[in-house]
Amino acid sequence: MEVEQRLIPTGLHVFGRAAGERECADLLRAVASFDRPECGARSLHDLVSEGLGLGSYEKLIADKSEEGWRKRASVDDAVRASVELFVREGAAAAFELLQRSSRVEPAESVKVFELLGRVKEQLRTSGELEGLARALGGEYVEPGPGADIVQNPAVLPTGRNTHAVNPYAVPSHAAYERAGRVVDTLLARHRAEHGRQPRTMALVLWGLDNIKTQGEGVAQALRLLGVRPVRDSLNRVTEVEAVPLAQLGRARVDVVMTVSGIFRDLFGATMLLLDKAVRTVAGLDEPDELNPVRANVRARVAEGSCSLEEAQLRVFSNAPGSYGTNVNFMVMDSQWESSDALGDLFVTRKCFAYGRGREGRALEGREARDALSRALSSVEAAYQNVDSFEIGITDVDHYFEYLGGVSKAVERHARARPTVYLSDALSRDARVRTLPEMVRLETRAKTLNPKWYEGMLGHGYRGVAEIESHVTNTFGWSATADAVDDWVYAEVARTYVLDEEMLGRLSRLNPHSARSLVARLLEAEGRGFWKAEAGVVERLREAFSDLEDRIEGVA
Ligand code: BEZ
Ligand code: MG
Repeated sequence: MEVEQRLIPTGLHVFGRAAGERECADLLRAVASFDRPECGARSLHDLVSEGLGLGSYEKLIADKSEEGWRKRASVDDAVRASVELFVREGAAAAFELLQRSSRVEPAESVKVFELLGRVKEQLRTSGELEGLARALGGEYVEPGPGADIVQNPAVLPTGRNTHAVNPYAVPSHAAYERAGRVVDTLLARHRAEHGRQPRTMALVLWGLDNIKTQGEGVAQALRLLGVRPVRDSLNRVTEVEAVPLAQLGRARVDVVMTVSGIFRDLFGATMLLLDKAVRTVAGLDEPDELNPVRANVRARVAEGSCSLEEAQLRVFSNAPGSYGTNVNFMVMDSQWESSDALGDLFVTRKCFAYGRGREGRALEGREARDALSRALSSVEAAYQNVDSFEIGITDVDHYFEYLGGVSKAVERHARARPTVYLSDALSRDARVRTLPEMVRLETRAKTLNPKWYEGMLGHGYRGVAEIESHVTNTFGWSATADAVDDWVYAEVARTYVLDEEMLGRLSRLNPHSARSLVARLLEAEGRGFWKAEAGVVERLREAFSDLEDRIEGVA
């Protein structure tokens, strides 16, 4: 059911082309699933669930019994049918259907459909080509918020200039609230599986994500530490205060934050805030078992390995002016022998400390390799917030370069592999998944899903390149975190290579990407990430050699 309900991108975005009917219905359904207090609209899922006498949708989601799933499916089906009808025939037809099928009165759903009507109109138009032409001509391009359509439908129409957020407004009240739920779920999950919550975690923070969510990742870091943002008279977040342990009801968690170059460029004030939060917590007079920040800092200082200043560094990024971990390039180019090299590269690129040093001087990216290595040495879990429906952990190489990279670096310095978690910030129930679970879900929802790959193949050459890149990004999770099951590679081979008709399509559309895909499967087998069945490797080698011949013009 989860795979079925995920919003699955069907093909690439074509610049200047507006959304089609099905894509429009999928997006509207996602938009309708959230309460929109700003326009007085309640979640359509809640309205239907209540109309059917099933209570709140939130409760249905929490109920994982078969009966619960069935009830939830009945709500989802009714919502889907009404939104599809709305797209085809308009609001009157949708009102009538909902009243009949789910006893939702038009007066209750009118605000939702007004909102969906506006979103639908705006999805129909694309200002992208015009916006680009204006930008190229040096003309004014109207600005709009930077966000995900589902998070904030006000991003529409597309083709406008993206304005970011005011870093002093981060995290927003809403982001801090939502972060509370995600962090509770995350810690509960870790406790259930490991008997206790992690004492130290590694977090990845990105810039665009924190723009889209008004700082949800930042808020999660504050929540883990057990601090709250404090706003000044101009409503700017410039301080933090510790939540007392009695109120927190659990131990604090030490956090090692590796932030992207984009985050560093956009959120300077926020890096200082995060650094301040760590120093505040390190200075609290609390017992070691409830305050691992203080315990870790004191242990480092007692070892005599560094100063107090140094022992409190937790915010790391690239050197000023530099971006990325390069772990993705090393993996894509197969330029590594032992996976230790991937963890070391991550540390080399990300070991620049930000925050305030002694006497309040800004550190501005001072190289601090030992400090990052030491901080990583006590990490037990790594985590990143996934902020959008469209870009998941196998769509781009950046998730494995960052979250995979930090996980490998932890393995190297803590001598144990951390448990890796991701959350779906957009899901109603603050869902948290382990990395292997997420790889399975992405594989089912995208890489092996005919709806997804046929959408891609419709784009010809570029579509095959996308399929190949999903396989390589999946491979990246083997290389950095050993998080890919055998069946994933076996099914990829079966779908794209052993199926002659499919292989023929790929080779005609884009023989170079087809060859890379086959080579990546052979590399997965060769590096021991996949125990392929007898005969399969032979067939992959033959396919590889045929593709070589084709590319070289022999066949
Ligand atoms: C960021 O928004 O920080 C980001 C974007 C793309 C890749 C990596 C990070
Ligand atoms: Mg990129």
